Amino acid sequence: MPPRKIIIDTDPGQDDAVAILLALASADEIEVLGLTAVAGNVPLHLTARNARMVCELAGRPDIPVFAGCDRPLGRDLVTAEHVHGKTGLDGPDLPDPAMPLQDAHAVDFIVDTLRAEPPGTVTLCPLGPLTNIAMAFEKAPDIVNRVAEIVLMGGAYFEVGNITPAAEFNIYVDPQAARIVFKSGAKLTVMPLDVTHKALVTKPRNDAFRALGTPVGVAVAQMTDFFERFDKEKYGSAGAPLHDPCVTAYLIRPELFTGRHINVEIETQSELTMGMTVADWWRVSGRAPNAMFMGDIDADGFFTLLTERLARL
Ligand code: RIB
Ligand code: CA
Repeated sequence: MPPRKIIIDTDPGQDDAVAILLALASADEIEVLGLTAVAGNVPLHLTARNARMVCELAGRPDIPVFAGCDRPLGRDLVTAEHVHGKTGLDGPDLPDPAMPLQDAHAVDFIVDTLRAEPPGTVTLCPLGPLTNIAMAFEKAPDIVNRVAEIVLMGGAYFEVGNITPAAEFNIYVDPQAARIVFKSGAKLTVMPLDVTHKALVTKPRNDAFRALGTPVGVAVAQMTDFFERFDKEKYGSAGAPLHDPCVTAYLIRPELFTGRHINVEIETQSELTMGMTVADWWRVSGRAPNAMFMGDIDADGFFTLLTERLARL
């Protein structure tokens, strides 16, 4: 079976970085066509910088990286330096990127790639706010039916919100964009906090990253050392939740995850619940299912996969 062609839309972010590294370490299953940076955890100039730094850490300066939207569709940008640090990639001391940013806008890369590749062969993997994806769908509605699948990190239901009591960060930052994507009709697989909060980097797991002894293994250990402090303090959790690598791991071993095909709508009217993913887990609304909403993960299997793949870089 040929590798799945993907575009990773990302706002690095330490967990985005690990998701990108896992993808680049899995060439048998995944062909990364490009990275598209979006404003989210930190402003766009930093997410575009960090995306390139991660490619170079993986020894892949050939991966094209594009800068996309620098703010949400209809709201002011909200960032998360309190979690990820002022650079967005605090923890390891990585060199400034030498590889250039591509000239084309990320939205044009998404549109052009989906039009150029055979229908149903490109998977979109958003790891941040959905601004670039929504803009591409608005600019070129013809590409929606050409998307093989959207596998995204975002939302929450039983786990509730992490940026407000009701909303998860990626959806909260650009709820209008999320509404466009969730109503697009594209095949949608969602990795919410309900799953990612079960993928915790405990000390033994982080020790296993460091024990790889490679620049990638040590850098990943340093990244999770840095960004675990927020979740440990807030939730008393046993380690940092590896949100975004759940997306990449799903592409490689989908059986690690279980969920339900249900209706998920996005709150865009009430400031109180803005960005909430209203997931009809118990199927009481009568609304048509539009997303495979994940609810559980084999966390040990996830970390075994992740650690063995990172060892390849
Ligand atoms: O809520 C977690 C999500 O927000 C992750 O994708 C993290 O990187 C941030 O973008
Ligand atoms: Ca992210």
